[in-house]
Amino acid sequence: MKYVSYIIVFLIYSCSGIEDVNDDGYTPMPNPKLVFQIPSNFPEITYDLTQNPPTEKGFDLGKKLFYDGKLASDGVVSCGFCHIQEFAFTHHTHITSHGVDGQIGERNAQPLHNLAFMEDFTWDGAANFLDSQFIIPITAQEEMNETISNIIIKLESDENYPRLFADAFGDDEVTTERIFKALSQFIVMMASANSKFDKWQREESVMLTADEDAGRVLFDSKCASCHAGTLQTDQSYRNNGLPLDPEFQDYGRERVTGLPEDRQKFKVPSLRNVEMTFPYMHDGRFNSLEDVLDFYTDGITQSSTLDAQLIMEDSSLGLDITDDEKVKIILFLKTLTDNDFILDNRFSEF
Ligand code: HEC
Ligand code: HEC
Repeated sequence: MKYVSYIIVFLIYSCSGIEDVNDDGYTPMPNPKLVFQIPSNFPEITYDLTQNPPTEKGFDLGKKLFYDGKLASDGVVSCGFCHIQEFAFTHHTHITSHGVDGQIGERNAQPLHNLAFMEDFTWDGAANFLDSQFIIPITAQEEMNETISNIIIKLESDENYPRLFADAFGDDEVTTERIFKALSQFIVMMASANSKFDKWQREESVMLTADEDAGRVLFDSKCASCHAGTLQTDQSYRNNGLPLDPEFQDYGRERVTGLPEDRQKFKVPSLRNVEMTFPYMHDGRFNSLEDVLDFYTDGITQSSTLDAQLIMEDSSLGLDITDDEKVKIILFLKTLTDNDFILDNRFSEF
């Protein structure tokens, strides 16, 4: 194989369950546990693995569900339709995502990686538990437009799924909880930790070029107050000065908290694999990293919730960055691309 994946998963072959014959007389397959190995340059995870320990069969079931159009009313729009691996599980062809019957959503599909480390989910933090996030795309009219009860009926009558649920969970009952747990097992294992930057951070004999390193230093001083730490997010909600889109009137975090002081605040996104996750921002309004950097110097608009870090001492708005510095920051951002993750066939549809 051309790309040798970074091994973060160690399989421990425990043969428990092999003797259990369930009601159908079906002997579930052996189901080894998957161990989530935290990369040495990463923080602790937030996902409680004890409540849903990933197993080989649970992961396989989650992956099958992730790529299956049965989860949508039209039988076509799977999770993987909007979350495409080669773009770090984002979607490109439309600025905001589009779902069943070509309906256009108002937000840009987020990348899926390192979600085991996140405290809450979506651009406004509408879900504070990964397993419960999935109900949003499944039921949203402009996404999968389906009900959980319908999905359960479809899966129960499928020739393969009941057996796969039995392999993963011990018996063939298809429940909402099991669907969500399996999806979480798949998504939790998606750790992206093998970019050039990671290897440099872990001192794995990888050097950043002089320009990339200069970009890193600039990033640390201009951006890392929000895009903080190894994950490049402090996981807070902030208004970074994007003018409000008059069509969508997306107030972001305020939608969740109801608080006017949260108006137009969005989750500070991780910038891992950012080279692949264009278009950028919650509504995909910028196509390139150059556009994003130009926005931070020249495009920031004033509002009552604008983050104070984007207001200069002389009251002018935006960050002070030269064109040459922008080039270096972008070179640094590209060191966050993790091709091992993008090409890791554990997460691929085929
Ligand atoms: C129609 C496109 C579409 C489909 C289908 C879709 N998603 Fe998403 N996904 C999005 C968008 C858009 C967001 C951002 C939502 C928001 O901020 O309100 C998102 C956000 C997420 C997040 C949160 C990521 C984060 O960093 O917080 C997860 C997890 C996720 N999706 C998983 C799934 C799963 C699992 C499925 C299938 C059950 C799925 N998505 C189906 C478009 C889609
Ligand atoms: C005051 C906090 C703050 C600072 C400082 C900041 N950002 Fe951001 N950044 C955000 C927030 C919040 C968002 C999401 C905004 C949205 O979508 O509404 C964001 C979004 C982005 C995105 C889009 C990512 C995506 O997945 O769509 C990029 C790229 C980005 N910032 C790069 C930078 C760079 C480079 C710097 C430094 C030059 C920087 N940011 C400084 C808060 C900040």
